[in-house]
Amino acid sequence: MKDAQWAAVDDYVGALMFPPDAALQAALDASAAAELPPIAVSAAQGKLLQILAGFHGVTSVLEIGTLGGYSTICLARAVSPGGKVVTLELEPKHAEVATANFALAGLADMVDVRLGRATDTLESMVKEQHAPFDLVFIDADKQSIPEYFTYALQLTRKGSLIIVDNVIRDGAVVDATSTDPSVVGVRRFNEMVSQEPRVTATTIQTVGAKGWDGLTFVLVSS
Ligand code: SAH
Ligand code: DHB
Ligand code: MG
Repeated sequence: MKDAQWAAVDDYVGALMFPPDAALQAALDASAAAELPPIAVSAAQGKLLQILAGFHGVTSVLEIGTLGGYSTICLARAVSPGGKVVTLELEPKHAEVATANFALAGLADMVDVRLGRATDTLESMVKEQHAPFDLVFIDADKQSIPEYFTYALQLTRKGSLIIVDNVIRDGAVVDATSTDPSVVGVRRFNEMVSQEPRVTATTIQTVGAKGWDGLTFVLVSS
């Protein structure tokens, strides 16, 4: 019942603030047709990404975990003119579906999909001294969040924002004895944040169409 009410509230708010969107719906439909897992951010969460990517001065975004490109579209349509989104994906099929979705959304020129293990791509971006990103969205395998966060700190600068998805997972994150690699990953990440003097962070729990989960927001403050 609770979950149904959470989804109903998302629907109510959505009808007013993020009505049906052809490009996003097409991305979801194509993802479902290709049998990608239905784990994109919710419409409300996508809108949050769009709002944050639309902040003045945000021109370069890094996303780790593309899937069918739903969240990527939210980010790419918001960045300032001339902006770019680099999105990292392991699965060729996901990257292929996403690339078609970007073309349909008219965003092909703004998105760079980089296929491969995210840690490998991140390592080469650090080596190549890639220009710092204004916003990083971490949303791939949860066990690797600590590594992704380490790379994100190397690929950002003061004033950049790092967002991490799926940090609550029905409250599982409070279980210090958990052996679930996702929980272990999130908990290690939280400890890294607590020890990292360069950042200011918070975690917001969310309920809604995707159940009970949450997002961590990390401002690179020095
Ligand atoms: N951000 C997307 C959802 C991403 S789901 C959205 O909200 O629309 C997580 C994605 O991360 C999946 O497509 C999965 O294939 C990818 N992934 C998992 N492990 C990865 C890795 N090691 N490197 C790169 N991508 C990975
Ligand atoms: C899963 C991954 C996600 O990024 C998400 O938002 C929800 C679920 C998953 O792997 O189950
Ligand atoms: Mg996610």
